[in-house]
Amino acid sequence: MADEGADIIAVDIAGKLPPCVPYDSATPADLAGTVQLVEDTGQKILAAVVDVGRAGHHRGQRRCLGTPDVGRHHFRGFRDVMDINVTGAWNTVMAGAQKIIDGGRDGSIILISSAAGIKMQPFMVHYTASKRAATGMARAFASELGRHSIRVNSVRPGPVNTLMGSGDMIGSLGRAIDIYPQLAQMITPFLPTWAAEPENIADAVCWLASEESKNVTAAAISIDQGMTQY
Ligand SMILES: NC(=O)c1ccc[n+]([C@@H]2O[C@H](COP(=O)([O-])OP(=O)(O)OC[C@H]3O[C@@H](n4cnc5c(N)ncnc54)[C@H](O)[C@@H]3O)[C@@H](O)[C@H]2O)c1
Repeated sequence: MADEGADIIAVDIAGKLPPCVPYDSATPADLAGTVQLVEDTGQKILAAVVDVGRAGHHRGQRRCLGTPDVGRHHFRGFRDVMDINVTGAWNTVMAGAQKIIDGGRDGSIILISSAAGIKMQPFMVHYTASKRAATGMARAFASELGRHSIRVNSVRPGPVNTLMGSGDMIGSLGRAIDIYPQLAQMITPFLPTWAAEPENIADAVCWLASEESKNVTAAAISIDQGMTQY
C-alpha cells in the first residue's frame, strides 16, 4: 500500500503468540523492518506494538483451551483465535471508524477473512468460525457505515506464502488429509499455483482501498486460485 502512495498506521503484537501457534512469532525487529520498508518508499508510517485482542473494552482471557479430540491441527486455543481474529478485528474497526467519519473524506475498510471463511478448514473449527465472522462483520459494518460513504469489504485468501504457511501448518494439513483422504479435494485450486504471495493479496486490498472500487461494498473477494469453487 505504501508503494501505491499510502501512509500507514501499523499495529502488531510483535511478540510471543500463544503456545498453540505452531510457527515463529513476529518480533520488534520484524515491525522495525516493516517501518523501514514503508519509509524506503518515501511514505510515512506510525507503528505501535498493540495486542488487538486486548484493545478497547473486550479484554478476552488468553488461554489455550485445547480440543483433545480434534485438536491435532494448527491452533488449539479456541478463545485465543476468537480474541485475535474476531475481537481484534472489531477493536480495530471501532478504533478507526469514527475517525474516518470525522475526517469527512469517505473511506474504505478491508478485513482479512480467509478461504476458510467461505468453505471451511477441517480441524480448525475456531479459525473457520472466526473467518466467517470477519466476512459477516464486514457486511454488517458496511450496512452501518455506508451512509457515511465508508465502504467495508473482506478479502478471502487461500494459502499465502507467509510465516503462517510455514512451521507445522503444511504438515498438519497433510496429516488431516491422511486421516480423511476425501478432504484432499477441498484444497484443489483451478489454477496451477497452489499458494499466493503476500503481494497478490495486497494488490486486491489496494484495489479495495482505491477509488477504482468505489461502488464495491459488503463484498467478500476470494483470492484463492479458485479452490473454494470446487
Ligand atoms: N497465510 C495464509 O495462508 C492465510 C490464508 C488466508 C488468510 N490469512 C489471513 O491473513 C492474515 C495475515 O496472515 P499472515 O499469513 O500474514 O500471518 P502471520 O502470522 O505471518 O502474520 C500475522 C501477524 O499478526 C500479528 N498478531 C498476532 N496476534 C496479534 C495480536 N493479538 N495483536 C496484534 N497483532 C497480532 C503477528 O505478530 C503477525 O505479525 C490473517 O488474518 C490470516 O488469518 C492467511
